[in-house]
Amino acid sequence: MTDAKKLFVKTYGCQMNVYDTERMVEAMGAKGYVTTDKAEDADMVLLNTCHIREKASEKLYSDLGRLRSLKNAKPDLKVGVAGCVAQAEGAEILRRSPVVDLVVGPQAYHRLPQMVEAGGRLVDTDFPVEDKFTLLPERKSLRGPTAFLTVQEGCDKFCAFCVVPYTRGAEVSRPVGRLLDEARGLVAQGVREITLLGQNVNAYHGEGPDGAWGLSRLLRELAKIEGLARLRYTTSHPNDMDDDLIAAHGDLPELMPYLHLPVQSGSDRILKAMNRKHTADQYLRLVDRIRAVRPDILLSSDFIVGFPGETDADFQATLDLVKNVGYGQAFSFKYSARPGTPAAEKPPVAADIADGRLQDLQALLTAQQHAAQEAMIGREVSVLYEKPGRMSGQMVGKSDHLHAVHVKDPSGRIGQLVRARVLASTSNSLAAEPLFANE
Ligand code: 5AD
Ligand code: SF4
Repeated sequence: MTDAKKLFVKTYGCQMNVYDTERMVEAMGAKGYVTTDKAEDADMVLLNTCHIREKASEKLYSDLGRLRSLKNAKPDLKVGVAGCVAQAEGAEILRRSPVVDLVVGPQAYHRLPQMVEAGGRLVDTDFPVEDKFTLLPERKSLRGPTAFLTVQEGCDKFCAFCVVPYTRGAEVSRPVGRLLDEARGLVAQGVREITLLGQNVNAYHGEGPDGAWGLSRLLRELAKIEGLARLRYTTSHPNDMDDDLIAAHGDLPELMPYLHLPVQSGSDRILKAMNRKHTADQYLRLVDRIRAVRPDILLSSDFIVGFPGETDADFQATLDLVKNVGYGQAFSFKYSARPGTPAAEKPPVAADIADGRLQDLQALLTAQQHAAQEAMIGREVSVLYEKPGRMSGQMVGKSDHLHAVHVKDPSGRIGQLVRARVLASTSNSLAAEPLFANE
């Protein structure tokens, strides 16, 4: 292996990028590349980028700036840019940054090895008809007992602020058979928890043996796989939570009691301007229906503050919705105008007002998160060990409710699913003791 070439990959943004990175690493592995965690040692650097907010995109150019001296010292170094910035900016990246050799959009990853072999400065941001996942090699270099599985990609919702429908393209679902095979393969390699991924995962409608299957049917089939203990899915749109998917949360013990269900705003006026196609009240009634079948479900959401036209009253409606729902955790962002999206044409809210609102919302969400964590103290939870903790004799994993849990368990092993009692809550995790001594 001394002549193996080294590949350094940096992944920005969402879990979909994490999954894509794994697949690109496999594809390059087939061409003799092994990964390194030091950019200085690399023969090729690949940046898998995110375009969702301005700050996320800017990171690419500051990282490329830092790669300049490395490329000067090592002229053969190949630099590739993948992901949603690659899709959105294409050849512009080659113009702006002379260190870049390759620009490859998310739908063209299966062509990356050919591009590397061809040499020269190349751009591929096509949306080819072939399915990249079929053409990329299967994942072999799995680490740990949890895995992501992309089941759907792209989005047809066109929320007024969002670049995803442009960078990831139209909604496409992968066929049921392939997903079941991939999931069985993961479980055979020791995976015990699978998170199904998609930009709009609950719009899943993949080809099954008898016509199109929805996400709930896929989940019900995956739940039958022997050895697979936990299922999750993300990210969902409220309008695609159909009756059977809600029912699945009551029926399937493998489906974990945690749901990321972004609402973005609590104001009907802003929801309309965002093209979300639901009201705050419809969202609240949906939450009630989900909690009716799974009362202990922990809900999470995304919020945008300072969307163009947002008034104090609109923002207050968001705070009211948050108080009404009671989230276990949530992400909140200041609106960031994205070129090419309809909302980017509208006059922005003053930055200091948006900053103040973000602080207020985050304070409320943090308080709710801490309350949800504290409510776990004294309760029994299941923890799937993912890695050793920072202290000796400690294991770290996630609970059913996706809380990070530190367990004092000197004989604990990665991949074990243990029962533990929660003793304390710290800012971002729980501390627990095992209920049964491990063998
Ligand atoms: N500005 C701020 N936040 C955004 N998001 C998507 N687009 C933007 C934008 N232009 C947020 C949404 C989405 C999450 C992934 O990122 O809340 O749910
Ligand atoms: Fe973007 Fe999500 Fe809206 Fe699709 S549903 S446009 S991915 S925010």
